[in-house]
Amino acid sequence: MTAHVDVADDGPIRLVRMNRPDKKNALTLPMYAAMAEAIEQAKGIRCILIAGSPGAFSAGNDLQDFLKAGQTGEGLGTEILRFLYALVRSELPIVAAVDGLAVGIGTTMLLHCDHVVASDTSRFSTPFVQLGLVPEAASSLVVPRLMGHRNAFSLLIMGRAMDAKTAREAGLVNAVVAASEVETHAMQAAREIAALPPEAVAASRRLMRGAPEELVSRIDEEAALFKLRLKSPEARAAFESFLQRKR
Ligand code: COA
Repeated sequence: MTAHVDVADDGPIRLVRMNRPDKKNALTLPMYAAMAEAIEQAKGIRCILIAGSPGAFSAGNDLQDFLKAGQTGEGLGTEILRFLYALVRSELPIVAAVDGLAVGIGTTMLLHCDHVVASDTSRFSTPFVQLGLVPEAASSLVVPRLMGHRNAFSLLIMGRAMDAKTAREAGLVNAVVAASEVETHAMQAAREIAALPPEAVAASRRLMRGAPEELVSRIDEEAALFKLRLKSPEARAAFESFLQRKR
């Protein structure tokens, strides 16, 4: 477990909170491992709720870690892959409460959630290509299906941010509310789901989502390319430039 992810059970609901506010909830390898474990080991739980900090759902992967991974040639760490597999293989419904920044995996993890509540000041962006990288978390498959090629191109390739209203119109978000209301609304949705007959929820959800293998295989395909891109001069220059920007 890590100090930067809080896991707390409230009856049948497990709240998984990214809690590294000083770094805008940039995700480190121990944070991915803690989140994966919270999803994998959820005995007795009926719904998972993922939340962040006020103003920062997540600024995406820690760029210092990406720089290191490019230098060592490791690629996406096993912790990141474990988290992604846990998300797409989860038998439990997942709700997300988003306020503020949702960058990179902060946006792409939402593609695998069942219900997303966002604040009206949320911004969703996936600057993979600006960073010399490629999309991850099966977003290259799911986003074009969700919002069509041109909207997907704008988000995933051009790196244009989406505001909360656009994200709702695009089908990424269910409800847009004031920042102070996000967690209350998300918790209400989680309670509503948890109150349903769990076996019927699980069976229906399985029918709707289909087998996770297609997603897993796209995650792996993206990860192989991602590993190459992390080592690329384009990516290294982008990481250095971010990390040096305040010095
Ligand atoms: N990796 C590592 N550190 C990060 C980070 C990331 N992805 N995102 C933010 N941080 C750190 C900053 O370095 C800063 O640390 P410092 O106070 O020690 O200097 C702190 O979090 C606060 O970030 P800051 O940039 O000052 O906040 P901001 O509100 O001005 O900007 C962002 C917020 C998210 C727009 C900006 O931090 C950013 O662009 N981050 C990178 C996002 C990204 O590219 N993620 C990877 C996607 S694949």
